[in-house]
Amino acid sequence: MSPNAPTGPDAPNRDPSTLRSQRWFAPDSLRGFGHRSRLKGMGIDDEDYRDRPVVAILNTWSDLNTCHSHFRNRADEVRRGILQAGGFPVEVPVMSLGEMMMKPTTMLYRNLLAMEVEEVLRCHPIDSAVLMGGCDKTVPAMLMGALSADIPSIFLPAGPMLKARWKDVTLGSGSDAWKYWDERSAGNLCDGDWKAIENCIARSAGTCMTMGTASTMACVAEAMGFTLPGAACTPAVLAEHSRLAVQTGRRAVDMAWESLRPSQIVTPESIDNAIRTDMTIGGSTNAIVHILAIAGRACVPLTLDRFDELSRSTPMLGDLRPSGQFLMEDFYNAGGLAALLQRLSHLLNLDCLTVSGHTLGQQIEAAEVIDDAVIRPLENPVSPAGGTCVLRGNLAPDGCVIKSVAADPRLIKHCGPAVVFDDYAAMKARIDDPDLQVTADSVLVLRSAGALGAPGMPEWGMLPIPKKLLQQGVRDMVRISDARMSGTSYGTCVLHVSPESFAGGPLALVRDGDLIEIDIDARRIHWHVADEEIARRRAAWRAPEAKFSRGYGQMYSAHVQGAQQGCDFDFLTGRSPGEEPDIF
Ligand code: FES
Ligand code: MG
Repeated sequence: MSPNAPTGPDAPNRDPSTLRSQRWFAPDSLRGFGHRSRLKGMGIDDEDYRDRPVVAILNTWSDLNTCHSHFRNRADEVRRGILQAGGFPVEVPVMSLGEMMMKPTTMLYRNLLAMEVEEVLRCHPIDSAVLMGGCDKTVPAMLMGALSADIPSIFLPAGPMLKARWKDVTLGSGSDAWKYWDERSAGNLCDGDWKAIENCIARSAGTCMTMGTASTMACVAEAMGFTLPGAACTPAVLAEHSRLAVQTGRRAVDMAWESLRPSQIVTPESIDNAIRTDMTIGGSTNAIVHILAIAGRACVPLTLDRFDELSRSTPMLGDLRPSGQFLMEDFYNAGGLAALLQRLSHLLNLDCLTVSGHTLGQQIEAAEVIDDAVIRPLENPVSPAGGTCVLRGNLAPDGCVIKSVAADPRLIKHCGPAVVFDDYAAMKARIDDPDLQVTADSVLVLRSAGALGAPGMPEWGMLPIPKKLLQQGVRDMVRISDARMSGTSYGTCVLHVSPESFAGGPLALVRDGDLIEIDIDARRIHWHVADEEIARRRAAWRAPEAKFSRGYGQMYSAHVQGAQQGCDFDFLTGRSPGEEPDIF
């Protein structure tokens, strides 16, 4: 479809026989009779859906997803938009992945939700879908599933929480929890203050209001063309968010008529736009894993090197926590993502089609920066290059990543002796031991924290600073792991070391006292151990036992790919083969 083609009620193609749902409802067959008669049993008449696109609202609402607590209301608002535009709305619950309640990590289940979204879309009479997600993994999971199903889909992000306020301090979710936990551990914060922070740090419905994974992925989705303009930054509880929900519902109906599919939206060019967006907002390192997986579903070849390449030439303009100062509500008030992208437009592929039916260029054309402190001018960026770097070396032959803008400048180039923890439990047991041989110059190493080893590659990468160092005033150290890190985390944390230790990556062979050097400007990580010694240690290494003997975990262990491939299952990359057969 041309981006300038008419949309809405005047769109030329309104031929109901072209709708996918007609394969269920139109035939004068026993099966067609069954579909129609059972809808009647729900009080739904022929008139309710005759000649109308069936628009699914895929809702990740759950009482255990704290970030999506407004989704019941929003689903009703989406429904209103679908009805207004002449569609037939059907709400379909799909698995909810709430970061705060799931153990060991939602990442273990991202691909399960992606599979569910794909299969739910494929097997039902659905002409288009509104994907309602927000909390971290729900965003990539829903986009991945929709891409593989390749049924017209539009994403509605949950939107960030309002800013939190404690005494005269503006609190950011995640980031300030870590920060004040450290202060409490150092003996600088009383129990009453800690409780007061607990009482106010999550102020409303919505996702973390720092530039954590949820906000990063919402921005990535918008820049990639998967949302209406302005969707990524609109706070969850504003009236604007309700209106966005209604508009998204309306638009989903037109998308069904236009047959505007995810495969038209996600292209090598729109993936580049997504990566540049991640870099200019100082986004979460998790976005790298997710964008790699999304690209895999879209059959777009992508490696870690592309992130580093684009990072080097993308100024960081968003001054947002945890890399900067402001929160999502400030970003919204400053003009939001569209205004930021307008400033970056010389680096973007403006011809990419978006779900609005317009190009990205058209979508951001009128956007205006209201506050230069939050969205910096090109002449005064937060950082002249992007927020995330890819390092390589003998400790990470397949690469690792670091959010350089969230690192202490003192540690950008650093060499120190390793203090190694075999797994998370060992780290927990020893990190605060007064006898632990550790100084501010040590390099903390955590292994068995990757996709297979943990399992699920949890957000353990911001290893805690040992208590005795906290008490000495140390607030950052070099930390290295095959884990991920929360988007709201910060510090000199080398993450996603690949291959992971559980699979026999070099990290498995590191010992206490080995010297490890990082040089972020040179994109290098080096383990100062002779090759012969490495070979000796490798010969003595034994692969650990598999973590699961049954169930989803076993399937996960058998098929999950490494972080450098986005941790998708090997059998899920690419698209569904096509329409399911009509057997009746
Ligand atoms: Fe849901 Fe942070 S916990 S977005
Ligand atoms: Mg998070």
